[in-house]
Amino acid sequence: MDEYVRNQQGPLRALVFGGSGQIGERLLTNLHDAGWQVTAVSRHAQQSRPGLEWISGDLSGTWQGAADFDAVFSCGPLDHFARWFATNVIKAPRVVAFGSTSVDVKRDSIEPAERDVARRLREAEASLFATSRERGVAATVLRPTLVYGAGRDKTLSIIASMARRSGVFVLPLSANGLRQPVHVQDLADAAMQVLAAPATAGQAYALGGGEVLGYSEMVRRVLAALQPRPRLLRVPTALFRLALRAAHATGRLHGMNAEALARMQEPLAFDIEPARRDFGYAPRAFLIEADMVSTPGSTP
Ligand SMILES: NC(=O)c1ccc[n+]([C@@H]2O[C@H](COP(=O)([O-])OP(=O)(O)OC[C@H]3O[C@@H](n4cnc5c(N)ncnc54)[C@H](OP(=O)(O)O)[C@@H]3O)[C@@H](O)[C@H]2O)c1
Repeated sequence: MDEYVRNQQGPLRALVFGGSGQIGERLLTNLHDAGWQVTAVSRHAQQSRPGLEWISGDLSGTWQGAADFDAVFSCGPLDHFARWFATNVIKAPRVVAFGSTSVDVKRDSIEPAERDVARRLREAEASLFATSRERGVAATVLRPTLVYGAGRDKTLSIIASMARRSGVFVLPLSANGLRQPVHVQDLADAAMQVLAAPATAGQAYALGGGEVLGYSEMVRRVLAALQPRPRLLRVPTALFRLALRAAHATGRLHGMNAEALARMQEPLAFDIEPARRDFGYAPRAFLIEADMVSTPGSTP
């Protein structure tokens, strides 16, 4: 951090958006442990504590709070944050914002909504870097792929929850695309590590986990972590597609579209070498335990 923050009197001050999220809550803990004074913004009432002041707000309005921070972090939607950053002048030498590998993965999707996600992410990154350059701010974008670890992700925790309910999880035989799940703590640690690495200014990094594995192996490890252990059932892809259509038609399933099925075969592995080289990124292997895919407080 010395490169960007000099002559500090008292603790370093951070402004954090998305601090109530699965990555954000780990980042708040990291900042607290490192002695930062944090202002965190949420759309919902949150409990302040020493070193952490929660204020109500979102990324749409005019910023009314303090205008001087050592770093601004965004763990919320990147397009909203890029707009907020462009329209609110905050004095901070450092910005670290989470984006997504979807910026590339969904660029050529057959689903218009997914192409739109990629476009918004692309434009948000461009806007954030342009605003940062104009203001002499060092900005870094971190693009996670499949996130897990807090028990409230939308992939592995959903798989675990469905498998727990029925005792079985069904996958098409074609579900063998590569995956690189990344733990929330490794992402929160990355957000801290980039602060001390000048080479990360003006850069975006794909952040996968420390292990690349096939989709079905990833699911197998999730199921193996559960007690009792649900069964993994592999079925012909055509049969799976039919069952998927039936589940949609009867309203028993939402959100899993044809593109998501096709993507189970895609190699979604990312080059994390630039992150290793520039800031020592060293994510853990995919060793999953039940509490990583269970909502805290829920009955396992
Ligand atoms: N989860 C993944 O698999 C994944 C993968 C790739 C990239 N990412 C990216 O990583 C970042 C963090 O992800 P996450 O999974 O930790 O997110 P999350 O758990 O969904 O939390 C995001 C937080 O952002 C805040 N937020 C959401 N919409 C907002 C809005 N319109 N205005 C202001 N604040 C808003 C919310 O805070 P309040 O409710 O307190 O306001 C929420 O707690 C995001 O940029 C996400 O796109 C996630």
